[in-house]
Amino acid sequence: MHLQEKMKIVSQRKLAPDIFEMKLFGNLVKKMKRAGQFLHIRVPRCDLLLSRPISLAQIDHKAGTCTIIYRVKGIGTKYFSKMKQEDSLDILGPLGNGFDISVVNKKETALIIGGGIGISPLYELSKKLVAKGVRVIHLFGFTTQKVMFYEKEFRALGEVRVSTDDGSYGVYGHVGKLLEKLTADAVYACGASGMLKIIDKKFMTHPHAFLLLEARMACGIGACYACVCRKRENETGIKFFKVCDQGPVFKTGEVII
Ligand SMILES: Cc1cc2nc3c(=O)[nH]c(=O)nc-3n(C[C@H](O)[C@H](O)[C@H](O)COP(=O)(O)OP(=O)(O)OC[C@H]3O[C@@H](n4cnc5c(N)ncnc54)[C@H](O)[C@@H]3O)c2cc1C
Ligand code: FES
Repeated sequence: MHLQEKMKIVSQRKLAPDIFEMKLFGNLVKKMKRAGQFLHIRVPRCDLLLSRPISLAQIDHKAGTCTIIYRVKGIGTKYFSKMKQEDSLDILGPLGNGFDISVVNKKETALIIGGGIGISPLYELSKKLVAKGVRVIHLFGFTTQKVMFYEKEFRALGEVRVSTDDGSYGVYGHVGKLLEKLTADAVYACGASGMLKIIDKKFMTHPHAFLLLEARMACGIGACYACVCRKRENETGIKFFKVCDQGPVFKTGEVII
């Protein structure tokens, strides 16, 4: 169930150029269950009507807080980056299906693949898998070392392998280079569509491989059809999925990226 609330900003810090971590406090946290779910956040300006979808990076039920990590992209996220502790944000959530971790068991291995800001929802996912006793291997791609964040946090959970487009850190090239010969009991990925296409192709027939997709959204709750993506042809005759309420997490092979 999703609800709306004015959540209070507990802290905000810059992690890398244009990348911010914001911690929020509110009752809504009690409803946040699955990694990969997202919040629909109103920009507190009357001329900006559409909320901005941002994934949950951490959920802390004990403290009643959740954390988001966002990259300043346009006018809305720029506004968020100027907000201070004690300010509040009008938030609808938690939205979306989130990642299914029931498919992987204790002592099995999960590959967690992320690109750029797309690694953010994978942090809560990794924590949940590790808490379950699953061995996690993180494969992360960034444009350059300067924009990396949370490396230490992910390393505390399991192995981390990094690639950078400019070779400034880790393996030179895109994240696909880290994938060669690796297999796992479950695969989870989030990042740019180019990266997701590679993962989709490689793990098309894997029974437990999942992709978190992004789409432009309006309502965020399945009412307006602003966020549809094309479903792969099959016998059901259904041609589209709404990313906001039927996703944002889909199995590989389900949608056309
Ligand atoms: C399910 C989901 C989870 C996301 N999680 C994160 C996250 O954890 N961290 C993060 O930095 N970004 C995330 N994004 C992308 C984020 O929503 C956009 O970067 C943000 O909305 C841009 O808003 P803006 O006002 O700064 O940019 P503008 O370009 O000014 O936005 C104009 C409009 O386009 C929409 N828009 C622009 N880019 C995107 C995009 N990539 N995806 C969806 N809508 C977009 C905005 O919501 C807004 O309605 C997520 C997107 C989705 C769909
Ligand atoms: S954003 Fe309205 S249906 Fe998805």
